[in-house]
Amino acid sequence: MSSLRLLVLDGDGIGPEVNAQALRVLREVGAHAGMSIEAEHAAFGGASLDAYGLPVTEATIALAKASDAVLLGAVGGPKWDDVAPHLRAERGLLRLRSELGVFANLRPAKFSAAIEAASPLRPERARGADFVIVRELCGGIYFGEPRAIETVNGERRGYNTMVYTESEIVRVARVAFETARLRSKRLTSVDKANVLEVSRLWREVVTDLHKREYSDITLDHQYVDSYAMKMVANPRDADVVVTGNLFGDILSDLAAALSGSLGMLPSASLGEGPGLYEPVHGSAPDIAGQAKANPLGAILSSALLLEHTVKRPDLAKIVNDAVQGALDAGLRTGDIAWGDAGTRRVNTVEMGDAVVANIRSSFGSKETRA
Ligand code: IPM
Ligand code: MN
Repeated sequence: MSSLRLLVLDGDGIGPEVNAQALRVLREVGAHAGMSIEAEHAAFGGASLDAYGLPVTEATIALAKASDAVLLGAVGGPKWDDVAPHLRAERGLLRLRSELGVFANLRPAKFSAAIEAASPLRPERARGADFVIVRELCGGIYFGEPRAIETVNGERRGYNTMVYTESEIVRVARVAFETARLRSKRLTSVDKANVLEVSRLWREVVTDLHKREYSDITLDHQYVDSYAMKMVANPRDADVVVTGNLFGDILSDLAAALSGSLGMLPSASLGEGPGLYEPVHGSAPDIAGQAKANPLGAILSSALLLEHTVKRPDLAKIVNDAVQGALDAGLRTGDIAWGDAGTRRVNTVEMGDAVVANIRSSFGSKETRA
């Protein structure tokens, strides 16, 4: 890929600050790897609601579909908490995911030794944990119909529908099996098949696909409640985990806490068309505009973009190593600053500076070696 067309959706709160660093990183990599980057910006979430009265416009959806990849910051904030449900920033995000058809959401969680003081787990339990959650992102209870709040016999009732078709299960399971093939060839499928029909079907379909096409992978099935417990108790046992939209939402926040800070976790949402790359963290309005945000979740998301959209895992590795280098050098944003020996508190831009400098020197040393 010699040129990359990006749609940059900064969103709200700390979104613009972290996205700026992710874009810087991509430009730096692009400059060394001979890849030109064309970045178009559009308002999204609360910012779009303020400008156009909608959390996402048709024009923005069209731009997203026409791009190679979308880089998303974060959306929402107290300013827009009281708007009608269909205007909420979250709705804009769900619409974007759905329009792009990004059904497979990869959320890697890696316990970082550099910030082990930030993990709520004892280091000896969490050290070495390194797994990826593959969350179904375009279906399940998030999108199922019917859904409503209605009045029946003088009282209100609210309901949603958790529904998966076989083909929806197969396509996300396939991504998970393929991911497992590139790792330690183990896949855990998480459901609630002891109670829910939708989960019984999920389990059957994953089992059939395993038999048919992926018998080289070791597959096991877990109930989501007990698996949440196992993930906390023995995070090192997890490797590739595939699950539905709602269970994946919950488990991925759990995984984020284990790894030290929500600020560190990237995500890639993949389908047939452009990928959507966003940090797992929210818009953190309380620290917005103060250069306090951790840009590493966004920067690591740009590494996922290099891996999955640009298909250059070598470039992704340079970014991942550059992040690790900044942490190893003791740089810490506020969310991961525990004051341990040899660490120094930095702001959003300084963290970006350090990552960019590491990228530059890693290309520099390669160029001299070559
Ligand atoms: C996430 C978020 C979203 C979700 C919200 C903002 C709609 O929590 O990406 O995990 O629930 O999917
Ligand atoms: Mn979530």
